[in-house]
Amino acid sequence: MSVTVRVPAKVNVQLAVGSARPDGFHDLANVFLAVSLYDEVTVSPASSLTITCSGPDAGQVPLDRTNLAARAAELLAARHGLSPDVHIHIAKDIPVAGGMAGGSADGAAALLACDTLWGLGSTRAELLSICAELGSDVPFSLVGGAALGTGRGERLTELEVGGEFHWVFAVADGGLSTPAVYGEFDRLTEGLAVPAPAASPALLDALRTGDAPSLAGALANDLQPAALSLRPSLADTLQTGTSAGALAALVSGSGPTTAFLTKDEESARSVAEALLASGTCREARVASSPTVGARVVGA
Ligand code: C5P
Repeated sequence: MSVTVRVPAKVNVQLAVGSARPDGFHDLANVFLAVSLYDEVTVSPASSLTITCSGPDAGQVPLDRTNLAARAAELLAARHGLSPDVHIHIAKDIPVAGGMAGGSADGAAALLACDTLWGLGSTRAELLSICAELGSDVPFSLVGGAALGTGRGERLTELEVGGEFHWVFAVADGGLSTPAVYGEFDRLTEGLAVPAPAASPALLDALRTGDAPSLAGALANDLQPAALSLRPSLADTLQTGTSAGALAALVSGSGPTTAFLTKDEESARSVAEALLASGTCREARVASSPTVGARVVGA
C-alpha cells in the first residue's frame, strides 16, 4: 500500500522584507502564487525511514534526515507516538534550490501522504502547525492557490485570484542558499532604515481582477538586489526575457530561478524559446497559475 501526493511550486509575486529579527528571521509580506510545476511524493510502509529521488536534478536532493520530507514524517510520527517507518520517494520536477520552494513542497506533500497512510485524519490546522515548524514556505505548499504570508511567511491569509496568469521560469545552473541571500540582504541594507513590510494594494487588486499587465506593474522582490549581487549573471537572463516580450521579470524568491510574466500562453512559449536560445539559462519552463496545493492523487 502506498499514498502519492502531488504538490506545486510557488512564485512570490511580492516579497517585501523587513529588517532581521532577534531570532535571525525577517518579517515578511510575502504574496505566494502556486504555479503548475509539480513534485510527486509517494510514501509506503518500510522497516525504517528511507528516501529516494528521481528526475533530472535528483542528484542535488539530500537523501538524509535534512530533507524536509523526512523531517515531516518524523514530526508527524512523534506527535502521534509512532515510528516514522516509511519509504519516501520524490519524483522531482520543481527546480532544486531555485527559489521555487521545491524542498518545502516535498515537506508538505510527505506530511499529507503520511497522515493519509497512517489514517491519522489530522485537521488542516494541525497539519498547518507542523508545516510552520518545518519551514516558512511549507504552509503555503499545503494550501496552494494564492496567499499573503506574514510573520516569517508562515501565517497565511488566502487571496482571491480572478484569472489565469502565464509564466516562464528560467532555471539557472546551480542553486543559491536562502540563508546566504538573506545574509546579503542584511549586508546591503546595513545602516539603512528598512520599512516594515506591507502587501501592495495594487498587487492584491491585480490578482483579484486577474489582469496580467497590472500584475506585471506591481511585481516586487526585495531579495532581488541580494540575489543579483551574489549572481550578477541573472541580470542578463532578466533582460533577455523582457526583450523577448515578457510583461515583467523578477527573481523568484531567493533565486536563482528567474520568473517572467507573459500576456498569454503563446507569448510564454516564445519567451521560453528566446531564453533557451540565448544561453543565459539552463532550462526554461512554461507554467500557469494559480493551481491547487498538496493533494492526494493516488492511494
Ligand atoms: O524557514 P526556512 O527554514 O525556509 O528558512 C531558511 C532560512 O531563510 C532561515 O534560516 C533564514 O536564514 C532565512 N529566512 C529569513 N526570514 C524569513 C524566512 C527565511 O531570514 N522570513
